[in-house]
Amino acid sequence: MSKKLISLMIVGVLILSFGLVGCGNQAAPTAKVLKVGSDAAFAPFEFQEEGSKEYAGFDMDLIRAIGKQMGYEVQIQNMGFDGLIPGLDAGTVDVTISAMTITEERSKKINFSKPYYKSGLTTVVKNDNTTIKNFADLEGKKIAVQIGTTGADEAKKVKNAQVREFNTAPEAFLELKAGGVDAVVNDKPVNDYYIAKAGGKDAKEVGQPLTAEEYGIGTAKKNKELTEKIDKALDELKKNGEYEKIYVKWFGKKPQ
Ligand code: ARG
Repeated sequence: MSKKLISLMIVGVLILSFGLVGCGNQAAPTAKVLKVGSDAAFAPFEFQEEGSKEYAGFDMDLIRAIGKQMGYEVQIQNMGFDGLIPGLDAGTVDVTISAMTITEERSKKINFSKPYYKSGLTTVVKNDNTTIKNFADLEGKKIAVQIGTTGADEAKKVKNAQVREFNTAPEAFLELKAGGVDAVVNDKPVNDYYIAKAGGKDAKEVGQPLTAEEYGIGTAKKNKELTEKIDKALDELKKNGEYEKIYVKWFGKKPQ
């Protein structure tokens, strides 16, 4: 073979492979994005660790695992809890995961996935409080809650109670610490975590859990297929042990 022919062939191969690379680029699927809304001030479900921009928590790990399972890139948006359902309606987010209890009223507005966590409400008071021993003792008392939550709904049913609504759960706890209210009514796992970790050493939980609640992942009513995909991914993560791994990481025990 002549040198000329060889170099022609090399050039040919180069052109061909560049061409292929070009085609490959064009054909490469752009990762599908799942826009996820959450009120990320609800440890250990969703929160920002000090000095970190990353969202941490059980819900955050779970939705990332679900997204991966479904072949989506997960993008988390921090928003107010009472803005989550409107956010689904407006299409600002595709999905919500925010320790949100599946309720009849919410189910009229959005789709929920299968339940992914069992919860309930408890009451938190200051350590030195001896008058409030259970939910019934809240009559006539000042109660702090997070706006738009099941805790707020229950607190409002208490006779003569003065209910103060805060944008986030940490603000409700701060008000208890400052002595502005007698109690906080909020989700048990979050109260447990606050007392154990988040500087809630001068507070305690009283009484038995008031409600049996289950958390679900939300999608817009018109997005039923997405809920089906999420349910399928959730089933798979339960089967392959990934769900249990995430649960144990955050709660230190296996799911009941
Ligand atoms: N489980 C309660 C509810 O659905 C409270 C949830 C609050 N979640 C949050 N990320 N702040 O009403």
